[in-house]
Amino acid sequence: MTVGVEVESFDPEHATDDDLRGYYQVMLARQETDRPDIPRLTYEDVLGRLKNPFVGFGPVAYWVARLNGELVGLAIVYFMEEESSHIGLTEVIVHPRVRRRSIGATMLQAILPELRARGRTFVETWQITEGSDGERFANALGFHTAHTVLSQALVISETDSALWQQSVPPGYRVQQWTDAAPDDLVASFAKAFTAMQDAPTGDLGFGEPVWNARRVRAHEAELRQNNVELRVVVAVHEDTGDIAGLTQLELHPHRPYWAFQRDTAVLPAHRGHGLGRCIKAYMIRWLLADRPDLDRINTTTGAANAHMIRVNHQLGYRTARTMIAVNRDLAELEADLGARCSASTQ
Ligand SMILES: CC(C)(COP(=O)(O)OP(=O)(O)OC[C@H]1O[C@@H](n2cnc3c(N)ncnc32)[C@H](O)[C@@H]1OP(=O)(O)O)[C@@H](O)C(=O)NCCC(=O)NCCS
Repeated sequence: MTVGVEVESFDPEHATDDDLRGYYQVMLARQETDRPDIPRLTYEDVLGRLKNPFVGFGPVAYWVARLNGELVGLAIVYFMEEESSHIGLTEVIVHPRVRRRSIGATMLQAILPELRARGRTFVETWQITEGSDGERFANALGFHTAHTVLSQALVISETDSALWQQSVPPGYRVQQWTDAAPDDLVASFAKAFTAMQDAPTGDLGFGEPVWNARRVRAHEAELRQNNVELRVVVAVHEDTGDIAGLTQLELHPHRPYWAFQRDTAVLPAHRGHGLGRCIKAYMIRWLLADRPDLDRINTTTGAANAHMIRVNHQLGYRTARTMIAVNRDLAELEADLGARCSASTQ
């Protein structure tokens, strides 16, 4: 263990300006080192994310590590709910200047009791840049690589808008809404979400939610409470009136010039007609009509999901980076970290 490292919980609401600046410096250095494709993070971006944590992943908690008093590391844990309530979705970040001094391992060890206290049995991390320090750290601590994901971005100013002119396949119509599904479509919308079960997710512990109208309404309400704008485009099958395909996008309050493309799914009976490409293209056209100053749309897609990756490329998305998701049983991790700690103090 590194002498002089202290780990403590961090409450962004009551943090000092110095600590918020320190938090920003760690985030910025991580972005420049591990995610250089992302435009430089501003202080406002990072504070904005602290005020507006991701919605739908459960309550979040933060910790910081100080080395001789200076904030040099942080940990963010989302306590996932429902099908995934065994998971602590965990991210540990150490400033590149002080890596390889056991700060990451010390932080992880310090936060595990809280994960256990909140009923977690599994530690999972989703977005580690392939080939980075993060991957080597995860391997060294016995994490299992559960899934590989591509981070893709559509940079509006660099893309030919002709790519988004996609016609609607015969037999379908396209419908759009913001924030809440129309009452007459909400049940069909929840049912269409079952197609997300077919998206490859490797060995993730994360359990794809089983959607129904009540859960759709609860999710919509949570997004509204957090000032996230939800946009949905669906393809409706004319003969039955059922939703055949859907795509969702979020606009977060602190970063109005970025959009987050979320789930896209087409039910098996309707695949192969270009519906996925059609509704995603429609989403882009609709968004840009209202938000002409939008800089980019970000998305992540399973590396094994050849169809979705091809659709994204056809629409002008470019793959920015490959990321891995890792996980490990909490009790095993605790035992290994404990052994590591006692070995280093002998
Ligand atoms: C991952 C990260 C938090 C590790 O922080 P750290 O303080 O450097 O990690 P530690 O010093 O505690 O490393 C613990 C062990 O992991 C292994 N390890 C860590 N980084 C490594 C690297 N770059 N190369 C090889 N092994 C590495 C080593 O075995 C190390 O023990 P050792 O130094 O005694 O040999 C840091 O690299 C980081 O912030 N990366 C970006 C964020 C990220 O990817 N997080 C994913 C983890 S949730």
